[in-house]
Amino acid sequence: MIEEFKRAAADKALELVQDGMLLGLGSGSTAKYFTEGVGRLMAGGMRLRCVPTSRATAEMAAELGIPIVQELVGQIDLAVDGADEVDPALNLIKGRGGALFREKLVAEAAKRFIVVVDESKLVKQLGAGVLPVEVLPFLWRTTAERLTALGASLTVRGGEEDPYITDNGNLILHLLIEGGIKDAASFGDAVKRTTGVVEHGLFVGMTDTLIVAGTEGPRVVGRLSGGALP
Ligand code: A5P
Repeated sequence: MIEEFKRAAADKALELVQDGMLLGLGSGSTAKYFTEGVGRLMAGGMRLRCVPTSRATAEMAAELGIPIVQELVGQIDLAVDGADEVDPALNLIKGRGGALFREKLVAEAAKRFIVVVDESKLVKQLGAGVLPVEVLPFLWRTTAERLTALGASLTVRGGEEDPYITDNGNLILHLLIEGGIKDAASFGDAVKRTTGVVEHGLFVGMTDTLIVAGTEGPRVVGRLSGGALP
């Protein structure tokens, strides 16, 4: 069922794609359905190009014959990605798939950032689960200590013995904040100011449109201008 919801949200986002667009392609199991759909649009004759947010997405795009832009000049027309948690203000936690830094770069470079989720991702307050933070491997324990001082407990993604390494060669720390994240903007700023932090998975004020799918089909929330959605 949940896979059908993910697919339904991604398919709804495909309605926004127009011939000639440069697309930001997200990472993860929901974004994958969007990338597949872009492949179908191209097979149907549309001319599209993409900036992928991870090596995994780049490989998928290459298999589907979607041209990849290596050096971006100007803006991406439309970026579509999944999320781990979405709050009522459309702020997000992203990065549990490990690709948060490139995902944020692509979302920020886009004229329009569309988030596609199934309804299980909706939360009242961010921080019910972990907040992924990408850190430099060099002296990472001292970075971890500074993050702990912000009130977080943390673990290393993949474990200290065999840590997950991002596409950028960094580590991911999973922060757990007891009681959740009360002010996502200020907590994100504090994490970002921490020496050793490359980027964090809080996406505050970045979502233009949310497409959330559940038993009643896909629902569109947020800014609707500039596209074909109802
Ligand atoms: C990847 O790093 C993440 O930000 C994903 O976009 C996020 O984890 C959502 O993934 P799923 O669509 O697989 O739940």
